Amino acid sequence: MIFHDVVVIGGGLAGMMAAVEAGAKGAEVAVLSKIHPLRSHSGAAQGGINAALANNPDSADDTPERHAYDTVKGSDFLADQEAAITMANDAPRVIYQMEHWGCPFSRMENGKICQRPFGGAGYPRTCYGADKTGLYLLHTLYEQTIRLNTRYYEEWMVLQLALDDSGVCKGVVALNIPEGRLELIAANAVIFSTGGSGRIFGNTTNALVNSGLAKAIPYWAGIPLKDMEFIQFHPTGLYRSNILMTEGCRGEGGYLTNKDGERFMSRYVSEKVMELAPRDIVSRSIATEIEEGRGFEGGYVHLDLRHLGREKIMERLPGIREICLDFAGLDPIDTPIPINPATHYTMGGIDCDKDGITQSPGFYAAGECSCVSVHGANRLGGNSLLETIVFGRRAGEAAASYVKELPKTGDEATLTRAQKALADRINSFARPGGTEDPYQLRTDLQNVMTGKVGIFRTGEELEEALKEIKELQARFKNIRPVSPGRAFNMDKVWIMELAGNMEISEVITAGAIRRTESRGAHFRREFNKRNDDEWLHHTLATWTPDGPDFSTSEVDLSKYPPEERKY
Ligand code: FUM
Repeated sequence: MIFHDVVVIGGGLAGMMAAVEAGAKGAEVAVLSKIHPLRSHSGAAQGGINAALANNPDSADDTPERHAYDTVKGSDFLADQEAAITMANDAPRVIYQMEHWGCPFSRMENGKICQRPFGGAGYPRTCYGADKTGLYLLHTLYEQTIRLNTRYYEEWMVLQLALDDSGVCKGVVALNIPEGRLELIAANAVIFSTGGSGRIFGNTTNALVNSGLAKAIPYWAGIPLKDMEFIQFHPTGLYRSNILMTEGCRGEGGYLTNKDGERFMSRYVSEKVMELAPRDIVSRSIATEIEEGRGFEGGYVHLDLRHLGREKIMERLPGIREICLDFAGLDPIDTPIPINPATHYTMGGIDCDKDGITQSPGFYAAGECSCVSVHGANRLGGNSLLETIVFGRRAGEAAASYVKELPKTGDEATLTRAQKALADRINSFARPGGTEDPYQLRTDLQNVMTGKVGIFRTGEELEEALKEIKELQARFKNIRPVSPGRAFNMDKVWIMELAGNMEISEVITAGAIRRTESRGAHFRREFNKRNDDEWLHHTLATWTPDGPDFSTSEVDLSKYPPEERKY
């Protein structure tokens, strides 16, 4: 059995920041990652990271207070306000820390970090490195983990959480993918920073690794998931492939136009805001244009960058140009980009506070897999990278302080029990004689989620989706045997990911059925208004063998009274 003081699950930005902070605070740390850390999906974040630095002449009077308010308003008042204030206050400090660690941010003439406008922010507040900000931050933090001699388990995939009889976390069971062996990893603290789960849907900007499994693992162990019904659609996914076309395109001045060449956002928001409304509003606007016949044949509209000119595109959006050339065969310098909204981010996740503390002592969460909640019902662009670093750091610090006085020995009995529970789970679906093709089930599930749990939702379609998910879950119990190979058995990996997707789809859909109002990214056609009297609370879903058991928790409204969200 392996033992570490602190084990971080996930090698993206939140995980690496947690590892750096826990290591710097004296803990002995290891990081487990399904893929090489530098291939983590954080590296796909393009447009930037928010902090009220007030560098841009147009943001001279920006402050962390305004950043916090914009975040809360953007969240449709479901964010916990103290947590949002903490994030905004911490932001300038963490940006300068990244700068001092060598992150190559784009620079203004005077040498200060460049900032561009993003949606729902009153100011150019989003710090960026061209359109590769996530990748630059990832490399910056990776160097820090190497400096601190962090132990990496690359291509190891967590499958089970080990909680003792009192619910205290004692480690994880993981699959060593290269060798095909289950490994028991004891730890005094475990930090989940496993990212998003967009691949539950068919139309997503997310990488293949972003499945529902990492949220299902704590959920199966009895830890509640919060606000899972809120799924963010990024307005501009490249038509067909859904690759992210950063909000930075609009931040730099890009237009959205319909098939009549009209800048249609004026139909939905004020002339001052236009393409830079929050994502939930822009996505619904695009979907409405397409639905009402003003989109192009096939279902898309245009993101037009031509007027920005070659020089600006080459300097600020070079990655976007490359992606368009490689994946759409067009050059945005002279051709508009066909785009449609695509599933991008899960506002919900593992229920935790701003130090990553969950209901299970020793178990922490940070980044997209968690729900603090700072994003409420709708996240502002540029707050995701910020969340990873602010809350990864806080979780690392909290875990390091928790393990300080604990004995450095593993709890073998709890780990062995967890291994047995995992074997039982695998045996419950990978039975001899099964006939269902798991990859067909994965596609069918994605089609249900994309088709019936999308931008516009109705009770009828959601009920149908839930019924179909349950049928797919039943078929999943009859899948053909998992292929028996050991080394790099990707069949086993994908089937485990699918087990998680099956579970989390049900939580999202059942939560969306319950919430009979429209708030942020959750829009119900038949309840198309926000209803604070009945629904201004968080949703908590706890696993039971018969499906999620729902309860609620209070939203922290300590600073900004809820108001109508106008842009
Ligand atoms: O549009 C983007 O560059 C994505 C940023 C984000 O999700 O925060």
